[in-house]
Amino acid sequence: MLSKAPPAGVYPKIGMGLTPLRFADGKPSQADNDKINENLPMHPRNHVDLSPFNTLALPGKAAAYQKITAPEQLAAPDLAKQNRFILGGGSNLVMTGDFDGLVLHMAIPGKRLVKEDAEAVYIESGAGENWHDFVQWTLQQGWPGLENLSLIPGTVGAAPIQNIGAYGLEVGECFHSLTAWDFEKQAFFPVDRSDCRFAYRDSIFKQEGWHLNGRMAITSVIFRLPKIWTPNNRYAELSNELAARDIAAPTPQDIASAIIAIRQRKLPDPAIIPNTGSFFHNPLVDQAQADALLAKFPALPRYPQPDGRVKLAAGWLIEQAGWKGKYLGPVGMYEKQALVLINRGGATGADVQRTMAAVQADVKAKFAVDLTPEPIFL
Ligand code: EPU
Repeated sequence: MLSKAPPAGVYPKIGMGLTPLRFADGKPSQADNDKINENLPMHPRNHVDLSPFNTLALPGKAAAYQKITAPEQLAAPDLAKQNRFILGGGSNLVMTGDFDGLVLHMAIPGKRLVKEDAEAVYIESGAGENWHDFVQWTLQQGWPGLENLSLIPGTVGAAPIQNIGAYGLEVGECFHSLTAWDFEKQAFFPVDRSDCRFAYRDSIFKQEGWHLNGRMAITSVIFRLPKIWTPNNRYAELSNELAARDIAAPTPQDIASAIIAIRQRKLPDPAIIPNTGSFFHNPLVDQAQADALLAKFPALPRYPQPDGRVKLAAGWLIEQAGWKGKYLGPVGMYEKQALVLINRGGATGADVQRTMAAVQADVKAKFAVDLTPEPIFL
């Protein structure tokens, strides 16, 4: 895969022709992030505090820090020699202390129509674009398909890494390909959808550990959005919201608005209450364990998977274990959604790890289920 040359006609000359455009829609958390990005110098700096760049607002300094606004910057030979961490929006990150290496903060802008065929449009975005702004821009251009993923924090470049998903859609379903820089081979390489091994909150990037070891940096992503659009409103909470709004035949914008409203009701805005969204994966258990749990806890929410396993709702398990709205010092589980770990102010990575371990222990004791954290630890 790494040796493949970019197919002519689909991939642009890397970094060229992308127009930096912004379509603000008044979402403060993301606007803040963008402002920070725009004000930062592009040359490397030392001992940079990363607390403004992680949505849990945890302290931690990078020994070296550089903002990347064009793919070509990644080819500087000295970057390849250093211990690296590739940072996007910092919305899936727990800082556990200082980082003794180089943080490359991905801020490559640009979004555009790459090509169009009878069935679909192909839209490319620079890795540093804000995800939510990008989704709203596609809707404004008349290219629906990503609306169910409205208001997810973070950047476009990070979206495929954990295959972000919400309200019945995972980004892998609309993903076409991406371009990344390989620091070892000193070359850009394309990654097709079939290479990505997308699964629930998972991809080749996580499976190979590239998101942790700085082996490669995603510079741009292409999405394939079918021209024939049908609403994806099977998720019960979404269909209920549309019904409450008296919308029988939703437009893509109706779906985006409904999802924005649902998320704003139960998920804290990281600009106001620092958090990383869902803190744990929804656990997958085998059928026998699900049956045993159901016998003991008849209200247990469960979602049978195609492979025979059963997905459980971590938020429900955490609430039943008594952790909804409960804190250990400055870190606890949010009162409106028990799956969201929040920093009430002044927390460190150690505080996060203490609360995480306590929640895991209590859920394990009550349900014999292991909870795996969703964010990565630096
Ligand atoms: N629940 C509770 N108590 C809670 C929270 C949830 O009992 O405090 C129950 C709900 O009543 C429901 C079930 O748990 O029966 C599932 O809850 P919900 O629909 O809110 O979704 P979730 O499983 O908690 C997942 C994703 C979210 C995504 C939503 C909507 C994961 C780890 N989380 O949450 O993704 O927005 O579904 O699709 O898969 C994220 O990854 O950061 C994220 C927010």
